[in-house]
Amino acid sequence: MEIKDPTTYTDLTQGKIKRIDFHISVDFSRHTLDIEARYQLQEPVRGSLYLDSFKIDLKEAHTDGHKLEWDFDVEDDVLGERLHLQGLEGESSFTLIFRTSPEARALQWLNASQTAGGNYPFLYSQCQATHARSIFPCQDAPSVRFTYSAEVQVPQELVAVMAAEQLEVQEGKHTTFLFKMPQPIPSYLFALGVGNLAFRELGPRTGIYAEPEIIEAAAWEFAENEIKMMEAEKLLGPYLWERYDLLVLPPSFPFGGMENPRLTFLTPTAILGTRGQTSLITHELAHAWTGNLVTNATWQDFWLNEGWTTYAETRITEVLEGKDSEDLHAAYNEKGLIASMERVGMDSPYTCLKLPAEKDADSPAPTVPYYKGCFFLRECEYAVGRERFDDFIQKYMASFQFQSLTTEAFLDFLKAELPQVFEKVNVQQWIYEPGLPDANTWHRPTSRLYDEVQEVLNAYQQGIRPTKEQVQDWHRYQILSFLQGLPKQIPVEDCQYFDDILELEKRNDVAFFSHFSVICVASGYEAILPRIEQYIGTIGRMLYILPIVRAMIETDWSRGYVRPLFERVRDRHHQITVNAIEGLLKKARL
Ligand code: BES
Ligand code: ZN
Repeated sequence: MEIKDPTTYTDLTQGKIKRIDFHISVDFSRHTLDIEARYQLQEPVRGSLYLDSFKIDLKEAHTDGHKLEWDFDVEDDVLGERLHLQGLEGESSFTLIFRTSPEARALQWLNASQTAGGNYPFLYSQCQATHARSIFPCQDAPSVRFTYSAEVQVPQELVAVMAAEQLEVQEGKHTTFLFKMPQPIPSYLFALGVGNLAFRELGPRTGIYAEPEIIEAAAWEFAENEIKMMEAEKLLGPYLWERYDLLVLPPSFPFGGMENPRLTFLTPTAILGTRGQTSLITHELAHAWTGNLVTNATWQDFWLNEGWTTYAETRITEVLEGKDSEDLHAAYNEKGLIASMERVGMDSPYTCLKLPAEKDADSPAPTVPYYKGCFFLRECEYAVGRERFDDFIQKYMASFQFQSLTTEAFLDFLKAELPQVFEKVNVQQWIYEPGLPDANTWHRPTSRLYDEVQEVLNAYQQGIRPTKEQVQDWHRYQILSFLQGLPKQIPVEDCQYFDDILELEKRNDVAFFSHFSVICVASGYEAILPRIEQYIGTIGRMLYILPIVRAMIETDWSRGYVRPLFERVRDRHHQITVNAIEGLLKKARL
């Protein structure tokens, strides 16, 4: 089936890339990668070949026999530059020699002071959704899969890791790490990290890379990963990527986690010393099936990745943490979903599961595919019962492994396998209509632990503040639900009071602080400002910092502080975060 994808310049009816062999040399002084890449296509080229690229400095292009002409013939802020390769008629392989730009959107080059150890620089990539093109010219679309090999040369004292199998290490003036990726991946799952890294084994298939200064804490926090894998396999089928390792990044990493195959990239803010945020790992691990094995064909079908993964995450969490805990997560997520839908408008097309066709893959309501997608899949489960739905999940994974599929292809499969779902669930409405179905027509989450919090919130509305004893044994998600449920503005003394009884400084949980600062800003608690600066100056996780930036923009007293604060910290952030904050500021004319 022909796939239309507005996020790529490439002609998806052309021969697709099937393999790339990379030689990469990492230059920390210039902030560039020098790359020689040999591409092999599935079939010979007819006419010209177009590839996606972003600020790539192409130096040479050739086939085995002759040099090739090229031209960057179309340019766009979002899509980058279209690389038009000429003279490839009838050929099915070619080599490009090029250098990446210091402004490559996928790469963050950190100086030593931005790392845990403080002595060595660090580099990491983040390609999802459409940033791989800033590392190498490619068909940067999730419907194209290729295998690869890579030789990565780094300064002698550093370690390179990739979302691939490590083969050997060659020592010399530089150190060269050899990798191969035998399983075909879409370009957004290409990933590289370089730094002063140590490794600890966690189990037979699991391990963790982190800077030596934090490796012990990291290994303790995620010691249960092997058990997680076994639970995930029960639900989703055999794990087909051999190893599952983690790479702990510096705090500027823009996400909580990124499901790079074999090697999840992770924020260090997930290391709480309590094992309290390991559902993040459950999520990234579940992507090994829902996302990496069975992939959304375009970013409009993003819910196939994130909705399915969130659903799988809830199922695994239910086994590992119990139903009470899972119900609480679900209730919290429903509130979060409604809030983010209200922000863009309940009738906005960004609240549909099938997203509008746009060249920019980032939606203004990024949590919709996660939670609306998850709630839709829960409805499908309710319609046929857990047992039948579980058989369906296994069959779905097995039938589409290493393939990319559209929402429509998924619905065809669902109809063929579980036609009863369509009798009980208004599938059309869930997928193609905005907002959420009427509350009485679906199984909205209910939670005992959430209700406890709601009672405390109701009492607070009546003027009764909770005591420290009341909240001290709360589950992490109860604290989150409490902060989420507080009125938008509260008296300044109450900001101080909640800071104290919830022990927010001591707990040092970025999610708590994010919710709390939004309330403080709106409530005029100006004393919070230095802590916000400290937080936004180190942490890049967008889920937590963008709400604070938004709150500061929307509040009179703090508006004038945002741009100068951002300018002071911008160098410490990944290009992805910088662009997101810049977008918010520009929209507000700041
Ligand atoms: N794949 C996403 C991260 C992502 C999404 C990167 C879109 C680029 C574009 C990852 O699996 C994810 O969802 N991370 C979440 C955490 C998760 C537990 C909800 C995050 O980073 O907050
Ligand atoms: Zn995800």
